[in-house]
Amino acid sequence: MIQKIKIAVLVSGGGTNLQALIDFEAAGKLKHGEISLVLSNKPEAFALKRAENAHIPTAVVNRKDFANREDFENEMIRVLEQNGIELIILAGFMCILGEKFCKRFADRIINVHPSLIPSFCGAGYYGLHVHEAALAYGVKVTGATVHFVNEIPDGGKIIMQKAVKIRDDDTPESLQKRVMAEAEWIILPASAEKVCTQLIKCRTK
Ligand code: GAR
Repeated sequence: MIQKIKIAVLVSGGGTNLQALIDFEAAGKLKHGEISLVLSNKPEAFALKRAENAHIPTAVVNRKDFANREDFENEMIRVLEQNGIELIILAGFMCILGEKFCKRFADRIINVHPSLIPSFCGAGYYGLHVHEAALAYGVKVTGATVHFVNEIPDGGKIIMQKAVKIRDDDTPESLQKRVMAEAEWIILPASAEKVCTQLIKCRTK
């Protein structure tokens, strides 16, 4: 039997993408990975409740408890190493990760972003702001991207993308909902399985 890839999902908020991953695993579709830990930088994140409901261990590393980003990231690295984590999934994790963290887990961090990268991405583009920017620009097609994470915000290699058509009457909120339902919740779990499959192949090389 294969030893599945141990996954940590990093969250900051509502956790609908985490839920999509949990549901994908519960449906038996995450064949090469297992969600072993949900780590939040915010103790009040609803995503933690979703993890508890699914009986997944949780950890909180509160950014506010640390004087600087380096100490905050060192603590996250410690928790992730302690849990033997092999793949990190950023699912609505609203902190930009520094070079040391990215290098420690090089090619082992993936992120979901609510636009078609390279549009509407990089520092300052997160959550609803991404959809506000897309509507303000007048683009007719947007979508979501799953990509590897490096020290450049939203700058790593793309794994999967899915397009979503913009409607004339869309608001940032209606667009956010459709991009999640039609793109993010589909390509994030599929990408997780794809990367876990690749990581298992690397193990056996
Ligand atoms: C999602 O739309 C995700 O793509 C976005 O935040 C939302 C989190 O929702 N992430 C970013 O903007 C990262 N740059 P969720 O907590 O319900 O998954």
